[in-house]
Amino acid sequence: MQTVLSGIRSTGNLHLGNYYGALRNFIKMQNEYNCYFFVADYHSLTTHPNPKMLHENVKNVLTEYLAAGLDPEKSTLYIQSDVPEIPELYLLLNMHAYMGELAKTPSFKEKARKQPENVNAGLLTYPVLMATDILIHRADFVPVGKDQEQHIELTRKFGRRFNNFYKVDFFPEPKAFNFGTDLIKIPGLDGSGKMGKSEGNCIYLKDDPKTIEKKVKGALTDNGPEGENTPKPDYIENLFTILKVVSTPEVVAYYDNLWNTGEQRWYGNLKKQLAEDIIAVTNPIRERILAIENDDAYLHKVAKLGAEKARESASKTLNEVRNIMGFRPF
Ligand code: TRP
Repeated sequence: MQTVLSGIRSTGNLHLGNYYGALRNFIKMQNEYNCYFFVADYHSLTTHPNPKMLHENVKNVLTEYLAAGLDPEKSTLYIQSDVPEIPELYLLLNMHAYMGELAKTPSFKEKARKQPENVNAGLLTYPVLMATDILIHRADFVPVGKDQEQHIELTRKFGRRFNNFYKVDFFPEPKAFNFGTDLIKIPGLDGSGKMGKSEGNCIYLKDDPKTIEKKVKGALTDNGPEGENTPKPDYIENLFTILKVVSTPEVVAYYDNLWNTGEQRWYGNLKKQLAEDIIAVTNPIRERILAIENDDAYLHKVAKLGAEKARESASKTLNEVRNIMGFRPF
């Protein structure tokens, strides 16, 4: 059985974009692959989270993984910092990662531009930590969005380099798992590009129905189409993109037709329908979130089981790597 691995940085609550872009696909994969899904809390350290919030954010992602349908009996669900083999392999792999290649990674350059006051070494070696996450379970497939493909490419490079340097055939080459038409990018509600925490344009899985209604109501619109069959501006197209995901084809066709006939004054209804259909998706998840986040015993059990399973696989890889590199016990 092939191995699948993916993680989400713990920097807040999960949103509709995370659900359709990642979680929903993780859930489908649980039955067909040997799956590892984790909370990337070490990765969240690059932006210096407040210590009070660190644990809360880990708890949020773990809770929301479970509430969305990840099953700790089927997949290995764990928290990155519960696996000490990860920082050790990261140290070893860092010796074969070069300053120049890391500094020219587009994600590094972008982050350095965004936070010029905090261009720390962890930011530079972020791709090595991510490669470690993947290589430590010798994963075959990594379901991620387009923005992460550069990191998967680097992971393959690091794995190949290790194999070549030590003349072994140890690390397999992981592939980004592309869901094809299943991979849906959820746009933000503000007419901008994708839904994202830092963009402040999110609908969270944990939002209550009133909040969702308010957010959808506040989405950017205009006076309506300026004629028949005119192209939709981005911010209107975005609402339709979300509608396509959460509503029935009939509903989408109905509003599409209103747009194309150039009719005015139906955005209110569209937003009402959109909010209602989003709530139908998120509310069952929200109810499970509320139950699970109060069940510390369950969260403890899940984290413990996940850490045990993850460490079993990670320590196997690490021991072999240490052996290949020449470490010997006295
Ligand atoms: N870098 C990923 C992101 O920001 C999160 C991540 C960390 C990850 N380690 C990973 C994703 C390993 C897939 C596999 O989205």
